[in-house]
Amino acid sequence: MSRVTLDRLLQSQGFGTRRHCQQLIAEGHVRVAGNPVLDPLLQVDREGLEFTVFDEAWVSSEHVYLALNKPAGHECSRRPSHHPGVLSLLPEPLRARGVQPVGRLDHDTTGLLLLSDDGAFIHAQSSPRRKVPKHYLASTCDPVTPELVAALLAGVQLHDEPAPLAALRCESPGSHQVAITLEQGKYHQVKRMLAAAGNQCVALQRVAIGRLRLDALDLPEGAWCHLGEAERELLTPPG
Ligand code: URA
Repeated sequence: MSRVTLDRLLQSQGFGTRRHCQQLIAEGHVRVAGNPVLDPLLQVDREGLEFTVFDEAWVSSEHVYLALNKPAGHECSRRPSHHPGVLSLLPEPLRARGVQPVGRLDHDTTGLLLLSDDGAFIHAQSSPRRKVPKHYLASTCDPVTPELVAALLAGVQLHDEPAPLAALRCESPGSHQVAITLEQGKYHQVKRMLAAAGNQCVALQRVAIGRLRLDALDLPEGAWCHLGEAERELLTPPG
């Protein structure tokens, strides 16, 4: 197991400059395995170290993988302009270590959003070639007809797309609801597909990515959690 000094470990986990981390430790704000530590040069395990800073518990890791139940009114962009950014929902150390959303949801879309500071993971998850199904629940302005569902399954032509885009799965669980599964992640895709099929999306929630379901995570809106290896496994493409 690789070892590192406590001040460097805190720095790697987003608690500020090395000097600031040394101060936190020297002033008694850091505990390791329940015990206060005042020596910034204490050798500790780099991975899996349980520590607290100002009584908040952390476990050290090279990378973090998070799921957020995104509320409406938050932007996924790096420089949010009209609404608060989704990163504002995370604690400062996670922001400081460079956690970013994996792909985008519109500011008014709610539901499952992945975030990580692992560039390879973000790249792999966002790659169009990966074809991880994304599951959405849309509420519509007009009643959902069998023809609308059939059109979404057959494929609809969007303005700037070379070929029609079809839903992988689509059904209507309620008179004004569409449960739709997409393989691609084009800009405003669900809303544009519904509009092209003659209806209008009035609310949109992402309910699952691959086999990772939002309801299984038991996250209130605006809350986040760490994803373990078993949960990340559910994000792999089928077959
Ligand atoms: N499709 C949309 O229209 N908006 C989203 O946020 C996600 C998928």
